[in-house]
Amino acid sequence: MTLSDTQKEGGHIGEPANMRHVHKPLNHDSAEKHVSGTATYIDDIPEPDGTLHVVPGWARNAVRGRMSSIDLGAVRTAPGVVAVLTAKDIPGINDCAPAMGDDPVLAKDEILFYGQVVFAVVGTTRDAARRAARLAKIEVEPSTPIISAEDAVAADTTVLPDYQFRRGSPETGMTAADTVLSGVLQVGGQEHFYLEGQVAMAIPEEDGGMLVHSSTQHPTEIQHTVAKVLGIPDALVVAEVRRMGGGFGGKESQANQWACLAALAAASTGRTCKIRLDRDDDMIMTGKRHDFRVEWQIGHDGTGRIRAVDINFLARCGYSADLSLGVNDRTMFHADSSYFYPDAVIRSRRLKTDTCSNTAFRGFGGPQGMLSAERMIDAIAITLGKDPLEIRKLNFYDADRNLTPYGMPVEEHEVMKDLFGQLEESSSYWERREEVKAFNAQNAVLKKGLALTPVKFGISFTLKHLNQAGALVHLYTDGSVQLNHGGTEMGQGLYQKVAQVVADEFGITIDKVRITATNTSKVPNTGPTAASSGTDLNAMAAKIAAATIKQRLINFLSDLHSCTPEAIAFQDNKVFVGELQFSLAEVAKLAHQARIHMSDAGFYATPSITWDRDSASGRPFFYFAYGASCAEVTIDTMTGEMTVDRVDLLHDVGHSLNPAIDIGQIEGGFVQGMGWLTTEELVWDDAGRLRTHAPSTYKIPAAADIPEDFRVALYASKGNPQETVYRSKAVGEPPVMLANSVFGAITDAVASLNPGVVPNLDAPATPEAIMKAVRAIRQAAPTQGMAGA
Ligand code: MTE
Ligand code: MOS
Repeated sequence: MTLSDTQKEGGHIGEPANMRHVHKPLNHDSAEKHVSGTATYIDDIPEPDGTLHVVPGWARNAVRGRMSSIDLGAVRTAPGVVAVLTAKDIPGINDCAPAMGDDPVLAKDEILFYGQVVFAVVGTTRDAARRAARLAKIEVEPSTPIISAEDAVAADTTVLPDYQFRRGSPETGMTAADTVLSGVLQVGGQEHFYLEGQVAMAIPEEDGGMLVHSSTQHPTEIQHTVAKVLGIPDALVVAEVRRMGGGFGGKESQANQWACLAALAAASTGRTCKIRLDRDDDMIMTGKRHDFRVEWQIGHDGTGRIRAVDINFLARCGYSADLSLGVNDRTMFHADSSYFYPDAVIRSRRLKTDTCSNTAFRGFGGPQGMLSAERMIDAIAITLGKDPLEIRKLNFYDADRNLTPYGMPVEEHEVMKDLFGQLEESSSYWERREEVKAFNAQNAVLKKGLALTPVKFGISFTLKHLNQAGALVHLYTDGSVQLNHGGTEMGQGLYQKVAQVVADEFGITIDKVRITATNTSKVPNTGPTAASSGTDLNAMAAKIAAATIKQRLINFLSDLHSCTPEAIAFQDNKVFVGELQFSLAEVAKLAHQARIHMSDAGFYATPSITWDRDSASGRPFFYFAYGASCAEVTIDTMTGEMTVDRVDLLHDVGHSLNPAIDIGQIEGGFVQGMGWLTTEELVWDDAGRLRTHAPSTYKIPAAADIPEDFRVALYASKGNPQETVYRSKAVGEPPVMLANSVFGAITDAVASLNPGVVPNLDAPATPEAIMKAVRAIRQAAPTQGMAGA
């Protein structure tokens, strides 16, 4: 890890002098607890006496069809079973969907996908409930399931209407183009594989109330959904989460069902009920990153400058809409990667299949869009016999050509270019290009590839109303502070960053700030922690709350000491009033005596966002986060094995709030993206059953997959031009797309086998996919006059 000098020193131009925490590489607040096993996850909360355990029951042989009979007799009489619940036992509405009302908590008459929950067993132990769940006899009238994107296209089934952005006339552009290329790219999905699976514990309270501990990115939605399912007012439900053992988007909407089942069981038995999904069930039942069939066509002017683009994103959404609206819109918003498309049509079909309902996953559809753009660039470069890096640079947004296909200008095109140019230098791209060529000339079996790809990721929820946050800050009379906000902690370091901001606002040391669990009774009506905007939103809200309390103290002290507010300063747990000096505790006690309110609810709403989806116009993003990545790989053309030899990452986080945490996010995001593009493969059989539902068959990156030479740096930013908290930029998701360089490098290695021919490589580039691409390119006719060009 490298830190620029400003980051080491802290404090940028125009910032207050008393900053002790912001910009510092402090540990994650729970780092020691994480590694010593003392951090409390939901399954670690001591269970109240008599806690019962809930296990979802499903029809193990059914993929899709009407249920002709459900016999749960043997389940009910099995040892340890206290209750068995079906759709009929739901007092409220049988739906846990985030928006569209199409996700039953328990299947009613029909099974919609393999793994759909039909009933819930409530037992004295989890083991007893699991054994009992297996005894169900469910008959389903078979019907032919729609599994692949191609099946859904043929059957013309969608979960949401088609949508498109159009600029200029791509038809005219294609005709005017010198060369038109086209192809199909298959992009695989991804299992979240959070280390802590889906879990919830519901505790019944007086008057029909319910306290739900849920591993969720969206406590407010848990509250609302539980209330809806139980048929009680929102005010009777409290949702709380201290931390998740990873969410990655998989707990943005899809924690709802499990919280609802726990609450339903608790309401019906009057006892605390806990549900913790078995890993296989979790993988089978919950949605994943959307997989896509991407049909693309691109016209260029003969030198490689893009004239027109026509791209069709066919997404497998699964049986219901879930978050597919926002996810697929984000795919479209990122179909340009960092390139200017003079004329473009970007289409999206949201296909309905009889599979689990695909959902948010780090990048939220963006990675699939950007990967498609990189494939088009690679195709232009390979067919022209040019280096893909030249074609990338030729098509970058610049001062004159800075409008995205959806009409938002790329204001920081110079940052984008500068960052990219720096990495081109520091990675020694062109020298290594020569080395790669020399290596490939000397080796018949092993082939190297190199790629340098950009990242430009839009920050904000594209659903405007989600861009708001609240915080609740209390100053106590001993000078300690309790902090609460609507954001959730999933390992990304949000709590620590917000605490740093609050500590510096009060001029106190961070040990005086008590971070508390996200709770809907403290901060209500929140959005999900997602779209990487957790810090932008919640740190602002918390800063506003802390500043309000501080201002009240300043007013109080300036009256008391007849001085100007400017004579008062908060620093190092002390308050300076002119020549006088007090501890914050002394000031807080005095203020309390004087009946000053020392608690505040801060609120923040992101400015400048004006996107209107119906007219496809306006500004969807507050700003963009940028990055660049250079990857070098070696493939074995006899086995398809691949190693990532070296990776250089340079990423823009504005003025980092915490460079250690930000670098952690960059490294983690990159590796997760690399897993998506190389080893993580989801396989459904023709009958629609997920065959890869455990780590034995689904390969996530492990320590040995980390590139041996891994160089990560933060871009020396002049700060976010927008007024974000201390001019920082969001970092949670953008680094996933840094991994596009790995896919590009593998493409480059395969392309070296037959210069001029575009490899038919799909994602993930598993050894099998690499072998297929190698065989195909060897069988393809050699192109004339391209070699060595
Ligand atoms: N980092 C860790 N360690 N665990 C996670 O689950 N989720 C990612 C990212 N980084 C995640 C993570 C996703 S999908 C998002 S949207 C952001 O964190 C959310 O947090 P933020 O908005 O505070 O960045
Ligand atoms: Mo992240 S996919 O926006 O939860």
